[in-house]
Amino acid sequence: MADIRSVFAGIKSPNPFWLASAPPTDKAYNVERAYKAGWGGVVWKTLGEDGPPVVNVNGPRYGAIWGADRRLLGLNNIELITDRDLHLNLREIKQVKKNWPDRALVVSLMVPCEEQAWKAILPLVEETGADGVELNFGCPHGMSERGMGSAVGQVPDYVEMVVRWCKQTTRMPVITKLTPNITDIRQPARAAHRAGSDAVSLINTINSITGVNLDTFAPEPTIDGKGSHGGFCGPAVKPIALHMVSEIARDPETAGLPISGIGGITTWRDAAEFLALGAGNLQVCTAAMTYGFKVVQEMIEGLQNWMDAKGHASLDDVIGRAAPNLREWQHLNLNYVAKARIDQDMCIKCGRCHIACEDTSHQAITAMVDGKRHFEVMEEECVGCNLCVNVCPVDGCIDMVPLAAGTLDKRTGATVSADYANWTTHPNNPMAAAAK
Ligand SMILES: Cc1cc2nc3c(=O)[nH]c(=O)nc-3n(C[C@H](O)[C@H](O)[C@H](O)COP(=O)(O)O)c2cc1C
Ligand code: SF4
Ligand code: SF4
Repeated sequence: MADIRSVFAGIKSPNPFWLASAPPTDKAYNVERAYKAGWGGVVWKTLGEDGPPVVNVNGPRYGAIWGADRRLLGLNNIELITDRDLHLNLREIKQVKKNWPDRALVVSLMVPCEEQAWKAILPLVEETGADGVELNFGCPHGMSERGMGSAVGQVPDYVEMVVRWCKQTTRMPVITKLTPNITDIRQPARAAHRAGSDAVSLINTINSITGVNLDTFAPEPTIDGKGSHGGFCGPAVKPIALHMVSEIARDPETAGLPISGIGGITTWRDAAEFLALGAGNLQVCTAAMTYGFKVVQEMIEGLQNWMDAKGHASLDDVIGRAAPNLREWQHLNLNYVAKARIDQDMCIKCGRCHIACEDTSHQAITAMVDGKRHFEVMEEECVGCNLCVNVCPVDGCIDMVPLAAGTLDKRTGATVSADYANWTTHPNNPMAAAAK
């Protein structure tokens, strides 16, 4: 059985699956039940500074988007950091860590962007025996308007400054949680790295409005007729998160910086993809909120089964394996040619591929042959864009088949070359010509 024990920024856990800082990690009751279900670690719901706790709205906190089968695809929230007393949280954290010494327990923090505020809270957390802290520079709503959360994460200089204060104050590993509400995710990651952060985690939620009620003209979720932007997460954000994780993993300036991958992880497959692009461990929120704590069991079993089937003995065999295959567009092989091919036995003759290709692509799929509905790719028109594959409702019915070197591409009339050639040397590229 594959070994999925994890050591992330020096923090050990029996598996790489941690619950992200959010309602599932809000209190001892939740966290202990999560550990029982099998979670390797948690990041406790973000704590704020000592004093009166923050106040949440008393109406709906969530907006959502769904797939056609009502499966939750994306969740938007306007919740703030913990609204429970700081010392109650700290007492619970201490007890939970004592009860579960083999599980990771990291504490998320967000206090005002002042040295004294950070230096005051760190010893309190250290005293609980927690394994580390995560600095919440990501929350894009409510707290950011008060100069915290993403208001810090969007300014690399602030990130660097606060991480430095924390590294000077605590012996605990410091994980810097980044906001995706920024143009170039590498900038805050570099800033955190410069200041000595032990790791980064990403993504926090994305600024969003999930919908507008067309009877009341109020954005969702609606509080007494009014709405506010919120933070978006869940399966819909996974592609954005994967890209941002890969950007940091590939950046020479942050080489070796551990990355905790977060964003839409719902199945073992999602988890494996984050690992392959360079994440050292994984954090999950929406999947647990949608399916309950036991969802981790499918993730653990699925990851181990896949690793066994592929001969990956430990997480190190997987982490970062896909990163070298991610290239700039200009380095993709322009001599690679693929054509769509429809499996006539699987085709249910719905015609969606034809409509998509005919109206918006390259007029390369027939609709009628000999007076009968028949959907067939005309190789001489097909540019290999694969739109038809993506709109076909029958999985596996349309394949993209690469043309072997030496065969004729009927569309261009050229023979497929075995040589690799990219845009940097293409004759149509004025820059390539200039370089000669
Ligand atoms: C209701 C809710 C509350 C959250 N609260 C926090 C928080 O207090 N601190 C934090 O760092 N992230 C918070 N998050 C963000 C999550 O930790 C996570 O980064 C985000 O949801 C993306 O992961 P997911 O797609 O698995 O949900 C919250 C998310 C949700 C849905
Ligand atoms: S791959 Fe693109 S061009 Fe070819 S048949 Fe499909 S939609 Fe048309
Ligand atoms: S979309 Fe798929 S199932 Fe429908 S006609 Fe095209 S190939 Fe057949």
